[in-house]
Amino acid sequence: MTDAVSLIRAKRDGQRLADDDIRWLFEAYARHEVADEQMSALLMAIYFRGLDRAELRTWTAAMIASGDRLDLSSVGRPTVDKHSTGGVGDKVSLILAPLVAACGAAVPQLSGRGLGHTGGTLDKLDSIPGFRSALTPDETLAVLASAGCVICAAGSGLAPADRRLYALRDVTGTVESIPLIASSIMSKKIAEGTSALVLDVKVGSGAFMTSYERARELAETMVALGEEHGVRTRALLTRMDVPLGRAVGNAVEVEESVQALQGHGPADLMEVTLALARQMLALAGIAGNTAGDPAAAIADGRALAAYRAMVRAQGGDPDAPLPQAAHTRVLPAPASGWLTGLDALKVGIAAWRLGAGRARKEDDVSASAGIICLAKPGEAVQAGQPLLELRADEPERFGPALAVLEGAAAVSDQGPPPPVSPVISEVGPA
Ligand code: URA
Repeated sequence: MTDAVSLIRAKRDGQRLADDDIRWLFEAYARHEVADEQMSALLMAIYFRGLDRAELRTWTAAMIASGDRLDLSSVGRPTVDKHSTGGVGDKVSLILAPLVAACGAAVPQLSGRGLGHTGGTLDKLDSIPGFRSALTPDETLAVLASAGCVICAAGSGLAPADRRLYALRDVTGTVESIPLIASSIMSKKIAEGTSALVLDVKVGSGAFMTSYERARELAETMVALGEEHGVRTRALLTRMDVPLGRAVGNAVEVEESVQALQGHGPADLMEVTLALARQMLALAGIAGNTAGDPAAAIADGRALAAYRAMVRAQGGDPDAPLPQAAHTRVLPAPASGWLTGLDALKVGIAAWRLGAGRARKEDDVSASAGIICLAKPGEAVQAGQPLLELRADEPERFGPALAVLEGAAAVSDQGPPPPVSPVISEVGPA
């Protein structure tokens, strides 16, 4: 028999937590016998001392056991999902889920909302008139069976301990801990019941992880956790120094995703999406023939058809006009030459200030606010030509957004920068 203070002291002093103690902790926390301030102190001790591999496995298992685990065995197709650690202009899920479904897998994508400068998949989809992102478990299964993919909110029954822990981490400076991030993400993904998972771990100014080393450590930790819990898991490390694609916001990203499904996606967005799709199909055991070729599924319209089926099955009208912002403003290029950089963090914060993101979980977001990148790094620009188009519902939002965009664009007269692939490397089980 243990108690919360002993566990806090042990972790504070660098000792391991025993499996039984971790299980006790989560059970007692669920019964409100461990107080939030005690859990917060333990999270801070973990922030400094970490969790070793075995502790993290048990910690994650206890988070999963705090709620339900979906059973997707009735779906009748191999299930595979993707999770992104979040970025600016990251609309990959909207394209990828129907794309992989069109190739024969089932994609149960239980997603979250955006917080801070990175957007959330559900906020983007909610800009489609009629679209419902809150589904019951039965509705989730029905959409998955009919459309091959579903993108909806993770219900309150999946890893409920994570919701409470995340709220504490958010206000106690303990979000940025690799074991806490890995257990938070993986507990929800494992509880969702997918058989396989591909992680898109973003690296760069606009990402959670700004250094390659930390991103790789996070990727390796999550891949190990997935595999230990019976979920075939791989990760791709992808660049997030520059917004992905050209649109940053909600409705504007839906629009760009539909264009991508019609075969007109920007090169960087398509490279990341197709790389993730190929990993997902390989893990699902569907690859190597035309039906399982994601590029072919875009070219022949199957991916777009799957997207339209999913939107309809979730109550949305894929043909309805998307909300348009009442006001626009243009940011001009600061000089002539080649655009060598467009800082993802600054663009993400600007889109957030325009209304596309939220500062607190309870806030509303604007469906139509956002930014269109009219030029991307590698392209030639003339001083004064429009570089970014800012969109907002209220004109007073432009001032704070333009202020953060100061210095966001780098222009050089030394010739075009060498092309860089947005996909950096792949991480599999050790
Ligand atoms: N996303 C999550 O779901 N949890 C974290 O801890 C960080 C990002």
